[in-house]
Amino acid sequence: MDVFHITGPVQLKGTVKVNGSKNAALPIMAAAILAEGISELNNVPNLSDISVCAELLETLGCKVTRDGNDQVTVDSSVIDNPVGDYEIVRKMRASICILGPLLARCGKARVSMPGGCAIGYRPVDIHLMGLHELGAEIKIENGYIVAEAPKGLIGREIFLGGPFGSTVLGTANVLMAATLAKGITVIESAACEPEITDLVQCLKKMGAKIKGTGSPRLVIKGVRSLKPFEYSVIPDRIEAGTFMAAATITSGELKIENCRLEDLMAVVDKLRNIGVIVEKYNGGCVVSRTGALKTSQITTQPYPGFPTDLQAQFMALLSLAEGNSIIIEKIFPDRFMHVAELNRMAANLYKEGSTIIVSGVKKLIAAPVMASDLRASAALVLAAMAAAGTSTINRVYHIDRGYERIEERLNPVGAKITRENI
Ligand code: EPU
Repeated sequence: MDVFHITGPVQLKGTVKVNGSKNAALPIMAAAILAEGISELNNVPNLSDISVCAELLETLGCKVTRDGNDQVTVDSSVIDNPVGDYEIVRKMRASICILGPLLARCGKARVSMPGGCAIGYRPVDIHLMGLHELGAEIKIENGYIVAEAPKGLIGREIFLGGPFGSTVLGTANVLMAATLAKGITVIESAACEPEITDLVQCLKKMGAKIKGTGSPRLVIKGVRSLKPFEYSVIPDRIEAGTFMAAATITSGELKIENCRLEDLMAVVDKLRNIGVIVEKYNGGCVVSRTGALKTSQITTQPYPGFPTDLQAQFMALLSLAEGNSIIIEKIFPDRFMHVAELNRMAANLYKEGSTIIVSGVKKLIAAPVMASDLRASAALVLAAMAAAGTSTINRVYHIDRGYERIEERLNPVGAKITRENI
């Protein structure tokens, strides 16, 4: 198991490049199921979650290859085992997004029901309701979702909103299934995240008929068949936001290449309000800070609101602001595993329900800490770069799920991170 030793405080200066989006790539890889033939996806990050997705597609019957760079090829000519095995789904919840495409292509699917998760209760009831509305019969058997639509799927008007707003992968599942359903499907309260818009663009390239791209109302006219795609995924907005937070927490200056600021408006707005300079140039931005950090109030929301996937990183940041900040988590009310770990680094965080009061401290102090999930571990890396002394972060595999060799990208701009296999 790998650990990070991170020595701080450092000041990051230089250029970093954002990779392709993991959360866009995963559902698009699943979309390859919808068409027979060879699909080619570019700008795919080299992450463990992508390898798990490739493994999953291979168990279905696909052949998946990755070149030495950022291209993944999925040959879905044959799908003869429409089963999402527990051993794979338990490693990655996003595996659930094969359910809709398998139903549409094979008329049946058996996918392990995702289990518990470090960021809290994550049901899939809305996915199942949406697919049921399209005509699938669904039951839970021995821990598996067993779905069947022997006569094919039929377009319907479906409301996909839940208690916490729209669902990203739920929208992906129902949308993909609807592309091959008979008639017209209307998805109301569709997720508007850029990753969903990217999926829509790819599906359109495959021949799907979809209106309302980027809006909460998607209208899909089912077609008989789709063709394989050649597509390039968008840059990862969460990685870009993490780099912005890295420049800020280290009082540094980073030129962030391959970053779409239009996907990060809520984040840029918060950064500017707390005293950070964000300058746009064609293809990226420059983020710098010279003065003290001001406090903020952050409420996570579905896109275009502030993303839950940057909540932990901004908590690390606001730990060093002068005064009290408030962070309210409205997507995953229990996504706070990082709170106790940040407090071990001398942050002053007080939790009340889904709200965290962040009382700014003058400095953070290095400590051994435990990564619990992907974004929580990113927050610990940020805090450790700002903290005095050497911190050790355990369970680095969490960060490897979503950030490709982060130490090799941050060390050239001034970080002091070493990876050790223990
Ligand atoms: N929800 C339900 N029922 C459902 C589905 C969702 O109640 O059937 C609830 C969830 O419990 C949550 C809210 O709806 O309260 C939103 O969850 P959503 O379904 O949108 O999350 P997801 O699709 O499972 C994706 C990302 C997450 C990201 C969330 C929210 C991928 C692979 N995952 O998850 O990314 O936090 O959207 O934006 O795209 C990460 O990258 O670290 C990560 C966790």
